[in-house]
Amino acid sequence: MIADLPDELRRSGAIEVRKKLGTISGGDVLDVGTDEGDFIKVLMKTLKDYKSFTGIDISEENLKKARENFKDIAANFIEMNAETLTFQDNHFDTVCISYTIHHLENIDAVLSEMYRVLKPGGHFIIQEMYSDGEQTPAQKVDKLVHHLEVKVDSLLGIPHFETLTRQKLKNLVNRLGLSEVEVFESSWAVKCLFCDNAYDCANPKCSDQIDSVLKQIDEALSRVCKHPFYQEIRAEAELLKEKVKAEGSSAASVIYLIGKKG
Ligand SMILES: C[S@@+](CC[C@H](N)C(=O)[O-])C[C@H]1O[C@@H](n2cnc3c(N)ncnc32)[C@H](O)[C@@H]1O
Repeated sequence: MIADLPDELRRSGAIEVRKKLGTISGGDVLDVGTDEGDFIKVLMKTLKDYKSFTGIDISEENLKKARENFKDIAANFIEMNAETLTFQDNHFDTVCISYTIHHLENIDAVLSEMYRVLKPGGHFIIQEMYSDGEQTPAQKVDKLVHHLEVKVDSLLGIPHFETLTRQKLKNLVNRLGLSEVEVFESSWAVKCLFCDNAYDCANPKCSDQIDSVLKQIDEALSRVCKHPFYQEIRAEAELLKEKVKAEGSSAASVIYLIGKKG
């Protein structure tokens, strides 16, 4: 953890989540929708201990970046659809899913597959953004940027949906029948505790932060530059850029749901 945390991060709730993760012996861990493996890196720093990490993702392109990021760190990355995991029942000691639920076409199918491959007594960890509750003006801008990305992905036929409310996320977990469920909310993600740029992020109007969000919007736009709806999306993106310049941008708040099988 970085030695000197900005007050906003210290008070955010992230430290409490870190403490909870620090009580968990991860054993063999499965990360679903791992993308570039960022959550694996967070868990490597926060779990009490672990044996191995396996990350699965439906996108081989994303996994290539994960393998590159982990070339000197042991972790296994496999292309797989989370709706039909190829692992045996009760295979992993811990299963986790981070920022991926709102990318899924069939959330219940994925969560029940994760439950199936989890050993009795093993931990189920969810990290996800949510749509309701208080948000700062800069977080509202982040939400609009996310809306734009959802629109772009949807035009390209890539599953990506609006985030769920906290209650809907809790309902998903209730349907799984996990025990000892603990819910944490934090206005900053746990990964921020380890990030050297935390002080920059504490100021949503810092120029690096604004430049990076403007770049993110341009990247989203460039993906649909040949699409018939391009002009419509471009107009929306230009308005959004003005909002970013006026309000800055801060990452959305996060909910953590952590429970056990059986
Ligand atoms: C926002 S990214 C996840 C970010 C990452 N877990 C983290 O915490 O940084 C969502 C990922 O879910 C993957 N995904 C979407 N549907 C999937 C499915 N059915 N099975 C496996 N991966 C899926 C996407 O390819 C994408 O890499």
